Amino acid sequence: THPEVVFSGIQPTGVPHLGNYLGALKQWVEMQNAAPPETKLLFCVVDLHAITQPQNPEELRRRRRETMAMLLAIGLRPERCVIFEQSRVSAHAMLMWILTTLAPVNLLARQTQWKTKLAASEVRSPLDPDGSSKLKLGLFSYPVLQAADVLLYKTTFVPVGEDQVQHLELARSLAGKFNRTFGETFPIPRVRLAPAKRVMSLSHPTVKMSKSGAANSQINLDHSEEEIRKRIKTALTDSTTIITYEPEKRPGVSNLIEILGHMTQRSDFEAIGRECAGLSMKHFKERVADSVIEGMKGISEEYHRIMREGDGYLDGISREGAEKANELANRTMDDVMRAVGM
Ligand code: ADP
Ligand code: NA
Repeated sequence: THPEVVFSGIQPTGVPHLGNYLGALKQWVEMQNAAPPETKLLFCVVDLHAITQPQNPEELRRRRRETMAMLLAIGLRPERCVIFEQSRVSAHAMLMWILTTLAPVNLLARQTQWKTKLAASEVRSPLDPDGSSKLKLGLFSYPVLQAADVLLYKTTFVPVGEDQVQHLELARSLAGKFNRTFGETFPIPRVRLAPAKRVMSLSHPTVKMSKSGAANSQINLDHSEEEIRKRIKTALTDSTTIITYEPEKRPGVSNLIEILGHMTQRSDFEAIGRECAGLSMKHFKERVADSVIEGMKGISEEYHRIMREGDGYLDGISREGAEKANELANRTMDDVMRAVGM
């Protein structure tokens, strides 16, 4: 049996939030700490994905640094994991091109994420007032680049949140298609979901917490204790005073119960609801805030410490990571190019 290869990515589109942490990042650290030494672990800041939505270059540069810093602050160790920026490994784009020749447009058209992102972007160009040419090929083909990210390292495990499952189905299908067309080259990667599949927005609890959501919708991993308390205190709940876990009827309170559960390693949300039933909304929210502060202890301090280090520090880690990633990627590309006939 081959050693496992774990790959996952995060976009440098803002400081990572509690949804990213519970849905993905926390799992990355746990896998790092539990995996046998022969397991390869790669964690990537997917900057080529970030530019599928309009980005300001100065801001993108800053956010790449912030995201790298946060990957270290949560406890990923560069001695153990390959931590790198996607744009430093050109083979991601090369393999994507090859996979586009196998990717049916009608399958891409069925992906839900580009539709959501397109609907959310409010930019209307004066040359295109009805928005009909707003969908760019980059955003539409995003899942093919994501398939390339994963397959480039012959990945076997991809720890992500639920919003990525549909994209990974496509990656699995492209891997199978490549193998059938050109000969066995890629393992079929398996998805691994964290217990927190989907953390909801604090201000709109029927949509997922996202870096592109309103400021008061998120708890970011660089927030101070006061900020965390404030955001949870103002989280949207309803006017029913008793606390119950009813995700359909009461998404706001139920999201907070789930957060409390995830922060304390519990998944018996109904039971947590019953235990909190007698608390006032104010006290319940304080309990939730306590659990978040306790569960994220030290991350924000470590993040700010890393951000105060000179630019050379993060740059060095990113270069080293890219060097290792390039080496692995080139090995796969040798196989791929040979298989295709180039
Ligand atoms: P965002 O959607 O906030 O821009 P990314 O696209 O960079 O975040 O996703 C990074 C990882 O975080 C992915 O594995 C994604 O599935 C996970 N993730 C993002 N938002 C959530 C959420 N609200 N709940 C659980 N996991 C999430
Ligand atoms: Na996402």
